[in-house]
Amino acid sequence: MSTTLITKLSEAYTADANGTLITDAAILLEGGKIAWIGKAADAPEAGTVIDAGGRAALPGWVDSHTHLVFAGDRSREFAARMAGEDYAAGGIAVTTAATTAASDYELTRLVLGRAAEALAAGTTYLETKTGYGLEVEEEARHARIASTVVDKVTFLGAHLVPPGMDAQEYTELVCGEMLKAVLPYVQFADVFCERGAFTEAQSRQVLAAARDAGLGLRVHGNQLGQGPGVRLAVEFGASSVDHVNHLDEADMAALAGSWGQWDPRTRSGTPGTVATCLPACDLSTRQPLARGRELLDAGVQIALASNCNPGTSYTSSMAFCVATAVLQMHLGIAEAISAATYGGALALGVQDLVGSLEVGKRADIQLLNAPAVAHLAYRPGMNLAGPVFRAGALVAGRL
Ligand code: NIG
Repeated sequence: MSTTLITKLSEAYTADANGTLITDAAILLEGGKIAWIGKAADAPEAGTVIDAGGRAALPGWVDSHTHLVFAGDRSREFAARMAGEDYAAGGIAVTTAATTAASDYELTRLVLGRAAEALAAGTTYLETKTGYGLEVEEEARHARIASTVVDKVTFLGAHLVPPGMDAQEYTELVCGEMLKAVLPYVQFADVFCERGAFTEAQSRQVLAAARDAGLGLRVHGNQLGQGPGVRLAVEFGASSVDHVNHLDEADMAALAGSWGQWDPRTRSGTPGTVATCLPACDLSTRQPLARGRELLDAGVQIALASNCNPGTSYTSSMAFCVATAVLQMHLGIAEAISAATYGGALALGVQDLVGSLEVGKRADIQLLNAPAVAHLAYRPGMNLAGPVFRAGALVAGRL
């Protein structure tokens, strides 16, 4: 099998369990996987040699929380929010109307464009959700379109009760006909458990139905205020609870307890519920930033994700999320990168495939146009995205 050596890397941050940073590094690719990683001086011979020109390398981002299947524009709502209005879940209905009006071709074009933007910025593994259909055929259409573009699709029929519809009646629809219609296209189900969206009882019903259908579970929890989302996510063994802006000590303890059967030093055992922090969304909704530092210190595995969506976070820049996590959430650079790579992989249950630069993993590697991964936070807002490799193939950027 042919081999490729990426060499002349100023450093490679591996995001492995020890947070290993290799200076003057090289990475050997074979069959789409990482076959070797270490000091360039010790590198094996290879068929092809790529001179990285002193760039830094790190795993491709794993963006575990996005809502890319949408049409329309909500910049006026954003401007009104910046002028002092509160974020309200009801804005979802505006996007639902625009998305329902878009043809398959138009919607696919939009999702492909957003995925390409993310890839160029280093995201090599991408999840997205439905949730702007809110009707059986529309949700199934969005799930189908998403499944042709991204790696994992999450069913979020329980995003908002469509205006004018009875909440309980809609919940039954989500758990029955809608779930059945999306099942061929999705791997996870999610519920927006929040005041103004779904109550604890309704969320419980959605999670139970999705679990019985064999789907992995996620929860949008504790975004706009304290509530039962985190507790429910842990009780149901959800792979992640996302947002986590308003946590009390019981929520912290529940999340920490869920990681009791996991050994972070060997990354083995049974994973608990990942707390996914969405700093771009927190800034764009002027919510308090999620307490990532305290979650980490309490032994909770966290992920960073973009939450790219038209209402609360219209960016797919994981680099921006990492910079914010470092500068404002008090994560170290290695911690933030690990959360945006391995943490996301854990949230999606693909930690054996992607999320770190280790022998045997898929060769999803991004090179920065910078000599150190610290530049991600040291030079906030700068576009440092360089060449991006997915499964060993150059898929974006220039060498
Ligand atoms: O994750 N919280 C719910 N869903 C999205 C926002 C959706 C919207 O406002 O369009 C979020 O923030």
